[in-house]
Amino acid sequence: MNRADLIVGAQWGDEGKGKIVDMMAQSYDVVCRYQGGHNAGHTIVVDGRKYALHLIPSGVLNPKAVNIIGNGVVVAPNALIEEMKQFKNMEKRLFISDKAHMVLDFHSAIDLAKEKLRGKNAIGTTGMGIGPAYASKIERVGFRLGEIRNIPKLVDSVMEYFRVNRVIFKALDIKHASKEELTAEFEEYAKELLPFLTNTTALLWKYIDEGKNILLEGAQGALLDIDHGTYPFVTSSNTVAAGACTGLGLSPKDIGKVTGIVKAYCTRVGNGPFPTEDFGEEGKLLRANGYEFGTTTGRPRRCGWFDALACQYAARINGCDELALMKLDVLDGFKKIKICIAYEKDGKRYTTLPENLDDIKPIYEELDGWESVKGVREFDKLPKNAKAYIKKIEESAKTKVGIISTGAERMDTIIL
Ligand code: GDP
Ligand code: IMO
Ligand code: MG
Repeated sequence: MNRADLIVGAQWGDEGKGKIVDMMAQSYDVVCRYQGGHNAGHTIVVDGRKYALHLIPSGVLNPKAVNIIGNGVVVAPNALIEEMKQFKNMEKRLFISDKAHMVLDFHSAIDLAKEKLRGKNAIGTTGMGIGPAYASKIERVGFRLGEIRNIPKLVDSVMEYFRVNRVIFKALDIKHASKEELTAEFEEYAKELLPFLTNTTALLWKYIDEGKNILLEGAQGALLDIDHGTYPFVTSSNTVAAGACTGLGLSPKDIGKVTGIVKAYCTRVGNGPFPTEDFGEEGKLLRANGYEFGTTTGRPRRCGWFDALACQYAARINGCDELALMKLDVLDGFKKIKICIAYEKDGKRYTTLPENLDDIKPIYEELDGWESVKGVREFDKLPKNAKAYIKKIEESAKTKVGIISTGAERMDTIIL
């Protein structure tokens, strides 16, 4: 039976999923996004040129691949239209589910206003309106892309939403669009996006039956999952493997190989627990060497050491067959490299991820560093200490490493 392979983030996002999907897409026919929205930021570097993708699957740089945005994604039409301008001839290369919900301007206004009111208790969202758009969907008052086929009806239902929520809009001091403004906005969206809308589930089933090679691209990471992440400091979708089924209309039996993407260290952007965060000079060095600034918001990412407990958890919940270990070169030049192999709290030692990570203390093992792995493309050419570090990750995270990345370029990759 033909199955779809899956790429998932196995930390707190920004692991380097975009690079791996782009690289793998060269040998896949179809690449699909299934959750999240333009909160995602995937940077791809090809021949020195940088591409920033938010909604379009990272397979877009392979001209032969078809790209699908599934029903589980929340789509900001204006952001998507802008992103599409980077690429020519998208027709027949991009298909968008007509069941995908729209992120409208007021969703992002609500997101920003509520974050501001939360003050020091803010989640640290990207401010893109992702939470409010998924909230509308779950409340069953959302707006699907397919509804732009009947603009008068869609405008009426958005106006009805405004009427029912008028007290909230007033309290948050948000001025929503008028009927005329909404009509003009949706006419623009219809002009640009209608040719791309379709029943992507039926299309994907057809591709599976035809024996096409299919790659599914997760956004964010396991620890940001709405159910299984560090709630409430999470995003609003199921980022774990199971989300690929609901977000595309696939069954668990349709999923083939699962690859978890991890950095050789950890980062997190936004608030919430991050046990291995390094507040000192080494954390700063990781940020500088790894250029750890958000693709979507430009915020500096919090940096720290590889967390084997978090990785083990992510590997189990996603069913990872293997890991892709990214950004190994960022650790070049460190004399000692730490890896968290246990936690401690109130005199108790944990060797698996506890539910509550508040005030947990990481227990590290220290390994000797190496001079440089930058751009190394063969396993045998890696320094001895880098090999020892990879082995330690495999043992402590209980998952084998199948891909090693030593630079942002497609070719700076070792496949084992
Ligand atoms: P994603 O959200 O998981 O797709 O990851 P991002 O694109 O947000 O962040 C990963 C960043 O690391 C991007 O800027 C990539 O170009 C870069 N990158 C990916 N792999 C490597 C690597 O092995 N080494 C270095 N130095 N940079 C990498
Ligand atoms: P990629 O796909 C890293 C984080 C935000 C915030 C939390 C909730 O590039 O890995 P949201 O706007 O989703 O409501 O914010 O989730 N977050 C990400 N962090 N990478 C991402 O995507 C993220 N998308 C959301 O910083 O902490
Ligand atoms: Mg990112």
